[in-house]
Amino acid sequence: MESLHSSSFNFPKPRDEVEEMAEYSAPLEGRRGMLRLDFNENTIGPSPAVIEAINAIPSAHISIYPEYKGLKEAIANNLNCQNSCPKIKPLQVGVFNGVDAAIHAVFHSYGNHGDQLLTTAPTFGYYNPCALMQGMKTIAIPYEKDNFEFPYNKIHTTLLQQNTKILLICNPNNPTGTRVQAKEIIKLAKVSPKTLVVIDELYEAFTGDSVLPFVDFNQIPNLLILRSLSKTAGLAGLRIGFAIGNPEVVNRVSRVTGPYDINIFAVTAACAALKDQAYVDNYVAEVLKAKEWLTSKLNQYDIRHHIDGGNYFLIWPKQPPEKIATKLKRQGILIRPMSGKPLIDKSIRVSIGTISQMKQFLQAFNYVENS
Ligand SMILES: Cc1ncc(COP(=O)(O)O)c(C=O)c1O
Repeated sequence: MESLHSSSFNFPKPRDEVEEMAEYSAPLEGRRGMLRLDFNENTIGPSPAVIEAINAIPSAHISIYPEYKGLKEAIANNLNCQNSCPKIKPLQVGVFNGVDAAIHAVFHSYGNHGDQLLTTAPTFGYYNPCALMQGMKTIAIPYEKDNFEFPYNKIHTTLLQQNTKILLICNPNNPTGTRVQAKEIIKLAKVSPKTLVVIDELYEAFTGDSVLPFVDFNQIPNLLILRSLSKTAGLAGLRIGFAIGNPEVVNRVSRVTGPYDINIFAVTAACAALKDQAYVDNYVAEVLKAKEWLTSKLNQYDIRHHIDGGNYFLIWPKQPPEKIATKLKRQGILIRPMSGKPLIDKSIRVSIGTISQMKQFLQAFNYVENS
């Protein structure tokens, strides 16, 4: 069979940047019915209020384009109820088809060919493909020391010495859990006003590591915060995420999305989820209890691990990560090998769910490690 890349095959030529990159791939198939500890999703499902709201969508609303009235107000209201200083206005909120789409939009709207992305390593895997799409170059500064500390000084120096268009910090970082203090983020944003400083706060709810309560977007317009309903609220399959920042920046990032990128199911579910913050808070509390339980067990069993921010942790098994993943899959449990990731190559990443799910995991892990 003729390869798509064969020079004799006559097909329209994509942009050079696209031709040079690989398709984004993640092991997303065949996960239903398993204990899914591989994507840091909510492990018990969304609030019953979300399901009720989706079931109540009239068929007429499915056959027309979605309406978004009230959505940004609901998001701003939810944020203001959680922040100690209420201040976010609907114009400061951009809505996207998941934070993945928000990240894509950030690069599409701000990243010129040849511009620099500054980020950390290892970190979330979608930043670099987005930079590649734009023809940007990436500098990824490694986390430091055995406990993967944020490389503040090196990031600071790079911002001073080199023209950086986008600084992307995942806080807490996926997969190391590294937490960065709000005051450090604000200092970095102030040191380089021409850099768009994007803080991916997908997992902030688990340790409260948000810069949001401390930032005045009029004073620091180059800071943009990303949040999602995927992980805590359990809406990953519906795809809804937000960008919060200065209205001008939010407006530019929103310009590059399609007119109806968020569908009516996501809009309806988001409004219901945002009204039921107690459900999210209870889930987060359960995960934090499970995290505490896990930490004591991992220490007790002397398993090499790293556990910090977020709803996930790293373990260094005695056997190769892929082998452990295959064996755990046979036990009905999915985890993520970190093979090929700088600094954590021989580890696996495991999402934290409820205490009973963590007991199930640990029992299976001990079994497969010793079999
Ligand atoms: C750090 C980080 N950012 C963004 C995303 C994507 O989030 P969403 O489901 O809102 O697209 C993920 C998903 O795993 C993530 O870990």
